Amino acid sequence: MNIRIPRGWEIPERLATPESVVLNRRALMGASAMLLPGAALAQGAAPAGDAPNPMAAMRNTRFRPDRAVTAEREATTYNNFYEFGTDKGISRLAQRLPQRPWTLRIGGMVGTAQDLDIDDIIRRMPLEERVLRMRCVEGWAMTAVYTGFPLSELLKLAAPTSAAKYVVFETAADRANMPGLRQSWYPWPYKEGCTIEEAANEMAFVVVGMYGKPCPPQNGGPIRVVFPWKYGFKHGKSLARITLSDQRPVSYWEQIQGSEYGFWANVNPEVPHPRWSQATERLLGTNERVPTRIFNGYGEFVADLYRGLERERLWA
Ligand code: MTE
Repeated sequence: MNIRIPRGWEIPERLATPESVVLNRRALMGASAMLLPGAALAQGAAPAGDAPNPMAAMRNTRFRPDRAVTAEREATTYNNFYEFGTDKGISRLAQRLPQRPWTLRIGGMVGTAQDLDIDDIIRRMPLEERVLRMRCVEGWAMTAVYTGFPLSELLKLAAPTSAAKYVVFETAADRANMPGLRQSWYPWPYKEGCTIEEAANEMAFVVVGMYGKPCPPQNGGPIRVVFPWKYGFKHGKSLARITLSDQRPVSYWEQIQGSEYGFWANVNPEVPHPRWSQATERLLGTNERVPTRIFNGYGEFVADLYRGLERERLWA
């Protein structure tokens, strides 16, 4: 039998950027800018007369989505962001969260603690676009277009010390604009973490844009992290602080329900949540049900991180 296995960078035609996204970006950038690498645009090299769009970055096709891209509308109006409430329809309310000025503090076990302005981060980081699958532990999934940069690039700015073993992410706790914070029984601020090895993996990605525009507040704008091989609750949104530590953090969901949500939370269809199966997932937009894949289909990039850790509770 002649089976042809596509290489990592080959995207089937049906997975190419949908026309609506292309048109959207053209309107935003001017057609000629489509051909320019985003890094050049980010440094202000936009065609004369056009405002530079810092989110116009070259697509990295190394991480094949293998699925149709979720419509922007679906990806940006069906959210989990408990700081704004516990239902999925918080996108309007989240517009209250001011996106500028925004400072991200990187501290703890680092050589040089940093208070970084969001626009400074966007200017300094090597922006790229990735089309990534996102799998929520609740059983829904999407394939979204993100602009960002490897987490390792950001951490380099602060020079973690050799004692640092974990990276802890904390969301802004803006009491005036996040009504969910009034629910005082939740352990605010939202906190998540990963190991230093996970943070160094090329798939650990800091997101500042979606669908060629700034990341909207409901999806964690102006800056959030994604670990596409882990369940979505690991992806801290609207980050205010990153701390390098030698202590494994107890994260938000672990504090609320440790029997259901652990530290590693890697996607695995064969390990059910205590209250439901994880064998399949529902795609936002079409409601199609498809099989879930181990490490959300990114095992070739991340499985090595977990060799020797088989005795840990690796799967949520
Ligand atoms: N980050 C914060 N600060 N608050 C949250 O409630 N929810 C998490 C994660 N990050 C959450 C968060 C969960 S459960 C998921 S599935 C993803 O964000 C959803 O991201 P999205 O809305 O961009 O799809």
